[in-house]
Amino acid sequence: MVDALVLDARLRQSLVAVRSLGRSGLTVAAAAAQPTATVPAFRSRWCASGLALTDPGSEAAFVQALCRLLEQHPARVVLVSHDGAIAAIQRHREQVQRRACVALAAPEATAQAVNKAATLALADRLGIPTPRGVPVDGADPSEAARTVAAEVGFPAVVKPLESWMQANGVATRQSCEDVVDRTEAERAIDRVWRAGGQVVVQEWLPGDREAVSLVRDGDRVVAAFAQVAHRMHPPIGGSSVLRESIPLPDDATPMARRLLEAMGLDGYAEVEFRRDRQGRPVLMEVNPRLSASVEVAVRAGVDFPLLLYRWALGDAPASVDGYRHGVRMRWLGGDMKWLARNVLRDPTRARPDVVAPARAMATFLRDSLRPAAYDYLDRDDPWPAILQGALLPWNAWRVMATHLRAARRPWTSPHETAGRAA
Ligand SMILES: Nc1ncnc2c1ncn2[C@@H]1O[C@H](COP(=O)(O)OP(=O)(O)O)[C@@H](O)[C@H]1O
Ligand SMILES: [Mg+2]
Repeated sequence: MVDALVLDARLRQSLVAVRSLGRSGLTVAAAAAQPTATVPAFRSRWCASGLALTDPGSEAAFVQALCRLLEQHPARVVLVSHDGAIAAIQRHREQVQRRACVALAAPEATAQAVNKAATLALADRLGIPTPRGVPVDGADPSEAARTVAAEVGFPAVVKPLESWMQANGVATRQSCEDVVDRTEAERAIDRVWRAGGQVVVQEWLPGDREAVSLVRDGDRVVAAFAQVAHRMHPPIGGSSVLRESIPLPDDATPMARRLLEAMGLDGYAEVEFRRDRQGRPVLMEVNPRLSASVEVAVRAGVDFPLLLYRWALGDAPASVDGYRHGVRMRWLGGDMKWLARNVLRDPTRARPDVVAPARAMATFLRDSLRPAAYDYLDRDDPWPAILQGALLPWNAWRVMATHLRAARRPWTSPHETAGRAA
């Protein structure tokens, strides 16, 4: 029996979890959808076995395969980070929990956190600021876009209420998208509706993106950590490309604590904020799972994967007091895509969070010279980074192909990810 089975091994946070748990002496297995030859976490010296698992596109098949896997390779704790895998496990929680401890909060709290309507409604009741927005539903995207123009204005952010959705038996992950006029709003709303999702359209907030991460164990806050994302790719709705640990913000931290307490959300959660023009924190969402940016916390001294593992076992983890501020982490692949996106932008059209090519190049160069840790890179565990480096030409081709396809078929979007655990 292994101590932990880390699902969604293709994700960066899963590699971080494999390393954290392995370093602290635990035996760790990891699982990912095919093709398993391209999974960096499987190359980690801390990964005892790399296992193939169905992707969560079909929930019932995924859970069945997971249960079979747990019978053949028993594990004490299952860690899960992909929205699709979480949706599948939520629906069949008891089946999985009979075989291992699932490192997720209680089903009701998890359900409230993954649904932005429920999260934002709770925040409103608690007096925590949320973006001005309108829910849009109905059958006519052009009518919806008119409502957005009248009630929100542009630029705006088209946001699925849940990231993981299904339509006609096809599951996809849909992310937020910035829109600058009615045509774009119509297309973005239509994209989410067609994929089977519901939509809220929010005003665009221009300030800092800060996240407060907490581990709660009953009424006790075991650890608290804050980071700022200096940039993201895609600029709206993407992953952070450069992030830095910061002191716990006086205003956002109590909000995060109150929100999670009201949800009854134990275990790990990351509460995301963005500041408005006046610098006030406004709630974006709650992620009840490890996110790609968790490594900056680990490097700054808060080992969230290990705390989450202990919490899942009911081990009452010891409290963590403080962490190092100013620890920077960069995702080089993402930063290269961010640079390409800014350099190749349409100069006739201002977009939120997109900067001029000269400024993007200067920022990229400056940050290449400043010290930072890099995603995947670890001197004691080099193979995941070597594999990722070797895959760079293949990944670059895939990104280019997606953009070419989108240019030929304007209804496809980089804000849509197929139902694989990618
Ligand atoms: N109303 C908004 N104004 C400005 N930026 C936004 C807004 N909504 C989302 N974003 C950006 O997009 C990111 C993703 O949005 P989020 O609500 O966290 O959804 P998800 O991560 O599930 O796609 C946020 O972290 C933020 O950087
Ligand atoms: Mg988010």
